Amino acid sequence: MAFTIAVAGKGGTGKTTIASLVVRYLVSRGMTPVLGVDADPNSNLAEAFDTRVTRTIGDVLGDFVKKKPDIPPGMTKESYLEVHLNSVVIEGKGMDFIVMGRKHGPGCYCYPNVLLKNFVDKLASNYRYVVMDNEAGMEHVSRKNVEHIDLLLLVSDHTARGLRAALRINTILDEMGTPVKNKALVINRFDETNERALRDDVRKIGVDSVFKAPFDEVLGRIDVDNTPVMSLEDGSPAVTVVNAMFDELLK
Ligand SMILES: Nc1ncnc2c1ncn2[C@@H]1O[C@H](COP(=O)(O)OP(=O)(O)OP(=O)(O)O)[C@@H](O)[C@H]1O
Ligand SMILES: [Mg+2]
Repeated sequence: MAFTIAVAGKGGTGKTTIASLVVRYLVSRGMTPVLGVDADPNSNLAEAFDTRVTRTIGDVLGDFVKKKPDIPPGMTKESYLEVHLNSVVIEGKGMDFIVMGRKHGPGCYCYPNVLLKNFVDKLASNYRYVVMDNEAGMEHVSRKNVEHIDLLLLVSDHTARGLRAALRINTILDEMGTPVKNKALVINRFDETNERALRDDVRKIGVDSVFKAPFDEVLGRIDVDNTPVMSLEDGSPAVTVVNAMFDELLK
């Protein structure tokens, strides 16, 4: 079974950046194959790797619900959908991606969502690691598209609001009964001057470990310059932290 890493936290805190650095870490160390799951409707995990997204899981499910396709005789709905879902897997070197996209309009998605869960389970079993970039609401996790999480990375800035969001996500997962083996908090764009004021908030979240990634000019520019994450150098401050963090978390 794949080792599943889920990245979650308040909007804009650096979830996609951290998730892409994790994929980069795994691929550059040959810990492949890796499946990147882009589970935020507005997210761009796959794009951070210079891949073009043309169709999402949401598009496939939307067509299935709206168009009620003519399924060829002898083919089950499940295998019909599986063929179409497979066509959205973006293949790369050592890493593939799927993009969840957004739900398309009204209609009952209960049945396709069950099929989606089966598809994701089956697909994930072909990979050594699955890295999932989530939206703050954790919709795909709360719809039970994810059975278990080996490592949850809660990303926050050093604001009380960011830390409260991390606490809330942690509570949602507990309430849903999603088994999470290991939880780490990543305080991104860390600034030492705020450490003391937030110490109690950090403690309340109840994670196994805390990592601090500093502001990194190189990362600040990747969105502006459209730099693919795989072409980053190892030495910049936040990249060094993520590498060291994973050396420790996966040892
Ligand atoms: N440690 C860092 N140093 C400098 N810039 C950073 C750092 N981490 C992230 N950034 C930049 O901050 C911006 C927001 O990061 P990112 O898109 O990863 O956040 P997000 O949590 O995924 O946002 P959203 O909730 O919109 O999906 C990006 O431009 C990214 O390059
Ligand atoms: Mg994002």
